[in-house]
Amino acid sequence: MATTMPDFPKLPFTDPARGLNYRLSTSDDEASMHTIDSSFVTDRVFQIEFNTSNVGSGDPGFGLDIKTVTLDSPLHKSFPDDENSDGDDESSDCFTVVVEDTNPLCAKDAPTPGHNNKIIAFISAKFSSWNSRLIITDIEINSLYRRQGIGRNLMRLAERLGSARWPVRHVWLEVSNVNYPAIQSYLRMGFKIAGLDISLYVGTPAEGEFAIFMWKEVSGPAETRS
Ligand SMILES: CC(C)(COP(=O)(O)OP(=O)(O)OC[C@H]1O[C@@H](n2cnc3c(N)ncnc32)[C@H](O)[C@@H]1OP(=O)(O)O)[C@@H](O)C(=O)NCCC(=O)NCCS
Repeated sequence: MATTMPDFPKLPFTDPARGLNYRLSTSDDEASMHTIDSSFVTDRVFQIEFNTSNVGSGDPGFGLDIKTVTLDSPLHKSFPDDENSDGDDESSDCFTVVVEDTNPLCAKDAPTPGHNNKIIAFISAKFSSWNSRLIITDIEINSLYRRQGIGRNLMRLAERLGSARWPVRHVWLEVSNVNYPAIQSYLRMGFKIAGLDISLYVGTPAEGEFAIFMWKEVSGPAETRS
C-alpha cells in the first residue's frame, strides 16, 4: 500500500497508516542510517555491446547497445559503508531526508539512546549551481521496506525541497549497471538515461561494473516553484 503524498509536502510529513515519519536528518541520525541494509539481489544486469561499422571505408562509426543479460546465478551486492560519503553533508548545498518507523515494535532496534524510532530509509541530495542540477548522492531503503512507495516518496520530496531552495532544472543520479532493480525503479519514477562511464569504478571495489547516469527534468519554470 503506497502513501499518497500531497503535491507540496511539508516536512515533517507523517504517514499515519503505516507509522512512518519523513523529516530532515540531524547529526544524531548517523548511527541509525548506517544500520540500513542497502544490499540487493538481482538475476539480471545491464551490459554494453560495442559495435563498429564501416571499418576500412574511411568513415568509421561506432554504436553501443545496452542490453539486459540474465545471470547464471543471482548476484548479491552490498555497498561499502562510506561509498557515497563526500564529507560535506553539513554544507548549505546539501540535505538529507530520513524516514523513521515510529511503530513501537521498531523502538527496540533503534541504535541511538534517546531516539526511539528506527530510521529505515533516506535520500541525500546536493545542488550543483552551475548547471542547476540536483544530484541524488544516495538513496537507501531498508530491504524490508522496499516496493512500498517509499523510494518514490523520497525522490518527490527531494525534488520539491531542492526546488524550494534552489533553481533546480533537473534531477540527476549515478547507478551501477548491476543495480538492475534500482534502474527499473528510476525508470518507473520518470528518469531517462543521460550517459555512461565505463571507467568510473576502475580501482574501486566496484571494478568491472560501469556507471549509468540518469536524469529527470523538473516540471515547470523554476520561478513558479517554491
Ligand atoms: C532503488 C530503491 C531506492 C527503490 O526504492 P523503493 O522504495 O523500493 O521504490 P518504490 O516502492 O517507491 O517504487 C517506485 C517504482 O519503482 C518500481 N520498482 C521498485 N523496485 C523495483 C524492482 N526491483 N523491479 C522493478 N520495478 C521496481 C515500483 O514498482 C514503482 O513503480 P510503480 O509505482 O510505477 O509501480 C530501493 O530498491 C533501494 O533502496 N535499493 C537498495 C539501495 C540502492 O540500490 N540504492 C540506489 C543506489 S544508486
